[in-house]
Parts: sequence; structure tokens; C-alpha cells
Amino acid sequence: MEIILFGAPGVGKGTQAKILSSRLHIPHISTGDILRLAISKKTELGLKAKAIMDLGNLVPDDIMGGIIKDVLNDPKSKNGFILDGFPRTIEQAGILDEIFKELGIKKAKLILITAKDELIIQRLSKRRECDACGNIINLNYLKDANKCPTCGSKNSFIKRKDDEVDIIKNRLKVFHKTTEPVLKYYENKSDLLVIDGTLPVDEVTKIIINSF
Ligand code: AP5
Ligand code: MG
Repeated sequence: MEIILFGAPGVGKGTQAKILSSRLHIPHISTGDILRLAISKKTELGLKAKAIMDLGNLVPDDIMGGIIKDVLNDPKSKNGFILDGFPRTIEQAGILDEIFKELGIKKAKLILITAKDELIIQRLSKRRECDACGNIINLNYLKDANKCPTCGSKNSFIKRKDDEVDIIKNRLKVFHKTTEPVLKYYENKSDLLVIDGTLPVDEVTKIIINSF
């Protein structure tokens, strides 16, 4: 099964992709995670991407196209995948079409998760990621603010550099201007499922799973 999770920063793409990946046994491909790993390893890609990501702007399409081509051609992706954060421009949607054609993928399932900008700003300001297991949490929902509810690690939470309010606002601006128009591109090409991202996490998952 090929799934494209689409939506603004902070709507819950990563949260849902991790759950779906473990339930459906297909890889979660997050272009943001790939770039952050490259930054932490100080690779050539990471050095190019860092300044752009820190400001909340988009990494150029040719770089992103190359990354996604490699990942989708990897044998791990052959039984399906969950794309999180790609495509983000019309150009990237065209690149993905070409890759799908080469791989014989006819139609991916497109899932749009929605939420208002004000809620997203609140959520992302409180988001942390566990450095030990990669779990995404929200400080507002934690019983113990220093302990990961998934792996039990202590003091392992990290805050993303682009989760400062000014940068979140720029990411939302970029989403509305450049990424939202990609939905029009898919209008007649893909089955679209629209989900209210303000529902509880498990409700959102249930709606997705029940749609298959
Ligand atoms: P990326 O990493 O893709 O970030 P993003 O799209 O901005 O999305 P986020 O990861 O911030 O949010 P999310 O939707 O995954 O939400 P999450 O599940 O964490 O990209 C980062 C940067 O990389 C870009 O700005 C760009 O520079 C670059 N980049 C990446 N891909 C690129 C591309 N294709 N082209 C060019 N550049 C690219 O949830 C958020 C919070 O909400 C968490 O705290 C979570 O616990 C909470 N939450 C989630 N769901 C719910 C719920 N249902 N109810 C209550 N709380 C919830
Ligand atoms: Mg994410």
C-alpha cells in the first residue's frame, strides 16, 4: 500500500505515520527526518539543508527529488510506504509521478489531515521528540514531563530548532503559498481522504485504517 500523508506542519503527519508504519509493516518515509539525520551527521546534504530548514523554508526540489528517488527505489519500499512531507511543491509532485511510473505504481492513497493555524502554533511550541526512541510527544499531555511514555528514558526530550514561534509561522506561510496548491494537482489523479486533525490521535488512526 502506498500512502501520501499530506498536511500543514504540526497536523500530526509524523504521529500517524509512525503508528501506521508499525501496524501495516511498511516504512515511514519522512523527508524532514532524512534531512535532520543528514544535518546531525554533518553530511554534504546536511550542510546544504541546515540554514534553509532552520528558517522554515523549503530545500530545493532537485535535492529533494534525488533523495526520494533513492528511498523509493530501495527494496525496503517495495511492498509499500508512507510518505510524510513529500511532495511539497508542484515540481515535486511531477517528480513523484515519474518515479511512480517507473515503479509501476498506479495510484497512491492521498490523506489530508487538517487543523487551524492557531492550534498548530500551540501544538508545535509544546512538541518534543524522544532522542532515544523517536517518539513524538506534546508536553501538555505528559504525566511526567521528563520521562518518555514509550521507552521510559529520562530527560531525553529534544525540541526541534524550527519549533520556535516565528519559524513555525514562516513554515505555515510556506505551506499555504507553495504546498497547498499541490492538492489541486492531485484532484483527478488520486483518491483523497480528508481528516479533521483536531480529533484525538487514535480517532484519526481509526478513520485512516477504516478507509482501506
Ligand atoms: P518536516 O519534518 O516534514 O516538518 P513539517 O511538515 O513542518 O511537519 P512537522 O513534522 O512539524 O509536523 P507533523 O505533521 O509531522 O506533526 P507531528 O506528528 O510531529 O519538515 C521540516 C523541514 O524540512 C521543512 O520546513 C523543510 O525545510 C524541510 N523539508 C522536508 N521535506 C521537504 C520537501 N519535500 N521539500 C523541501 N523541503 C523539505 O505532531 C505535532 C504535535 O502535535 C506533536 O506534539 C504531537 O504530539 C501533537 N499531535 C499530533 N496529532 C495530534 C492529535 N490528533 N491531537 C493532539 N495532538 C496531536
Ligand atoms: Mg513530522
